Amino acid sequence: LDVINSMTQTILVTGGTGFIGSHTTVALQQAGYRVVILDNLCNSSASVLDAIAKITGEKPAFIQGDVRSAPALAKLFQAYRVDAVLHFAGLKAVGESVRDPLAYYDNNVHGSVQLLGAMKQAGIKTFVFSSSATVYGDPQKLPLTEDHPRSATNPYGHTKLIVEDVLENLYKSEEGWRIARLRYFNPVGAHSSGLIGEAPQGIPNNLMPYVAQVATGQRSKVMIFGKDYDTADGTGVRDYIHVMDLARGHVQALRHCLDAEQELLTVNLGTGKGYSVLDMVRAFEQASGKTIPYEFAARRPGDIAACWADTGLAWEKLDWRAEMGIEEMCADAWGWARAGRWWAGPAKRS
Ligand code: NAD
Ligand code: WQD
Repeated sequence: LDVINSMTQTILVTGGTGFIGSHTTVALQQAGYRVVILDNLCNSSASVLDAIAKITGEKPAFIQGDVRSAPALAKLFQAYRVDAVLHFAGLKAVGESVRDPLAYYDNNVHGSVQLLGAMKQAGIKTFVFSSSATVYGDPQKLPLTEDHPRSATNPYGHTKLIVEDVLENLYKSEEGWRIARLRYFNPVGAHSSGLIGEAPQGIPNNLMPYVAQVATGQRSKVMIFGKDYDTADGTGVRDYIHVMDLARGHVQALRHCLDAEQELLTVNLGTGKGYSVLDMVRAFEQASGKTIPYEFAARRPGDIAACWADTGLAWEKLDWRAEMGIEEMCADAWGWARAGRWWAGPAKRS
């Protein structure tokens, strides 16, 4: 019945050709929703649309455009009767945000504000936002609960804090907003088909894509940033979550919002388990059958020792918890990496 009820509902997925947006589009279509993607392709390729169609049998509608463009948004909302918006579009590289903060405030903050303004104009008040565990700063206590104090150590993280606040202000400003602020931990892996996955440009910033490129022979060894953290083996500990588990979490958050009169929900999406860099390297060796050479290097500035989620609220409110472990995360990341479906390169960023 859920599927039948949702058949007619149309969801706008901004950033839908990107890593998390593409996997969530698959999960949404499989749950019976119709998806319209808005993406400016600054960090993804339109070829992802065909890959999604191969998996689900349905090519999502696609508009190449920018969330910062009010006219593009107004046109979109005229052309499609959108029931809810899942907002993934934005920039996400921490180091780049230090070098070019204005690009981050413009894309992530101004972009979100423009999108919300256009939604308000069109009378659409259901919104799911990609926030991040980065808003917890350096954890004072683990596991991280949603009421942990927030702080930002870099411009990227600050954009997430600001948009979280914008959403709270908006929620309080008038009745009827249904908003979910989802704080992702470390999304990894890929769809098990190997047809979609994470396609970072240049040298990957994140651990798992880097490890995958060592396994394929594109890079010679992993540099492990720090071996003297206060953790079991001295390397950094994170809560890695399979991107398809994360995608299912979005479907649940969307359903929750669509069922509510009004709502402002803030919830962690993680597994509740922490693994070290060395754990992940070993799990990837197991999954790929390849040796992953590594070398210890200095700590990366801004890194924290350890971070993992308290997952109780997601279970209570969304009836959701992650199901896949690091074995499946690594197996699917390897399936995607070895298929070698890297696309040509991003459009120029404006
Ligand atoms: P991604 O770069 O793969 O996807 C983002 C997509 O948004 C890309 O396809 C890009 O082309 C598009 N985009 C960027 N700016 C745009 C704009 N102004 N207008 C239209 N489209 C635009 O990143 P992802 O990993 O899929 O992340 C999705 C969201 O989740 C981001 O908001 C990110 O900050 C957040 N997030 C990601 C992680 C992570 O580790 N991947 C963790 C926490 C939160
Ligand atoms: C994981 C661990 C590194 C690369 C980042 C953002 C965060 C969120 C997710 C969006 C750490 C170590 C890494 C390498 C290494 N993004 N590492 N060698 O830093 O937990 O989170 O992505 O919201 O905001 O900060 O993820 O994958 O970069 O690092 O040793 O080449 O791997 O030190 O311990 P991180 P990561």
